[in-house]
Amino acid sequence: MRAVRIISEPAEIPSTGQGSRGLVPTMGYLHEGHQELIRRAAAENDEVVVSVFVNPLQFGPGEDYQTYPRDLERDARMAAEAGASWIYHPSPETMYPAGFATTVRVGGPLTERWEGERRPGHFDGVATVVTKLFNQLRPRRAYFGEKDYQQLQVVRRFTADLDLGVEIVPVPVVREPDGLARSSRNVYLTPEERPRATVLYRALLAIREAARGGAAPAKALAAGEAVLATVPEFVPDYLAVVHPETLEPITDWVPGARAIVAGRFPTVRLIDNMEVWDR
Ligand code: PAJ
Repeated sequence: MRAVRIISEPAEIPSTGQGSRGLVPTMGYLHEGHQELIRRAAAENDEVVVSVFVNPLQFGPGEDYQTYPRDLERDARMAAEAGASWIYHPSPETMYPAGFATTVRVGGPLTERWEGERRPGHFDGVATVVTKLFNQLRPRRAYFGEKDYQQLQVVRRFTADLDLGVEIVPVPVVREPDGLARSSRNVYLTPEERPRATVLYRALLAIREAARGGAAPAKALAAGEAVLATVPEFVPDYLAVVHPETLEPITDWVPGARAIVAGRFPTVRLIDNMEVWDR
C-alpha cells in the first residue's frame, strides 16, 4: 500500500468542491483505534483527511509534549491502509505563528470536572486546535473516539455553540484483545505493567455487571473501586458513574449512563470509559 500525500501548509489544502470531506483529527502515532475512525470516515465521505499534529496548546507543564511518540512515515502507511485520501501535517509555527493570541474556551460544568480539573487548560487547547482544523479544512463531518469521552462532549458543545456546521460523529472505543483501550501512550507501559493495565477495563466491566444485576449507581461504583484496589501501582484520579451528556455524577440510572475512569501507572496516565446502562 502506497503511503498518502502529506500537506503541511494551509495554502496547499485542496478545496472540497461538491464532494463531502470527512476529517479525522489525531496527534499521530496511529493505531487500530485511529484506523477505525478513518474507516468510518472513508465509508461515509467522498474524501478523508487525517490531521497529524501534536498540539502544544493541550499539554500542561510537566506533561509529555516533547516525548509524545511520533512516526509520520508509519502514520502515512496506516492512514492509507484505512482509506485516508491525504494527511494534513502542519508545523507548530504554521498553526501558532508569532502573535497568535486567541483561545476557544468551553466553560461551565462540562469542563470543570474530571480531565478538566486534572489538566488545566487542556480542553482550551483542544477546542482551539479543532476549531482551527475545521476552519482550515472545512470538513462536512469529523470523527472522534468515545475513548476520550469528555473531549467528544466538549467538541460537540463548541461546534454547536459556534455554529461551525460540522457533523460530529462518535466512534466506539477500540480495545486490545485483553480489553485495554488502544492508545498511543500504551507504548510507555513496561512489560510488567502492561497486563495489569487491564484493571481500568475490568473495573468498568464490574460496574456494568453490577448495574445489570440490579445495583444502584453507588453500589455499582463500589464494585469498580474494589477491582481498582487489586492493582496498587495504579493510582486512580477518578472513577465515577455519570450522565452521558453533562458528565455530572448520577444517583439513579439514566439511559446511556457511563462509567469513566482515569489514573496513573508509574510510567503513564491512562483513561477509559464504558456505557454501563443501555440507551
Ligand atoms: P489522539 O489522542 O491522537 O486521538 C485522535 C482521535 O482518536 C480522538 O478522537 C480519540 O478519541 C480517538 N481514539 C484514540 N484511541 C481510540 C480508541 N482506542 N478507540 C476509539 N477512538 C480512539 O484526541 C486527540 O488525539 C487530540 O486531542 C485531538 C482531538 C487530535 C486534538 O489535538
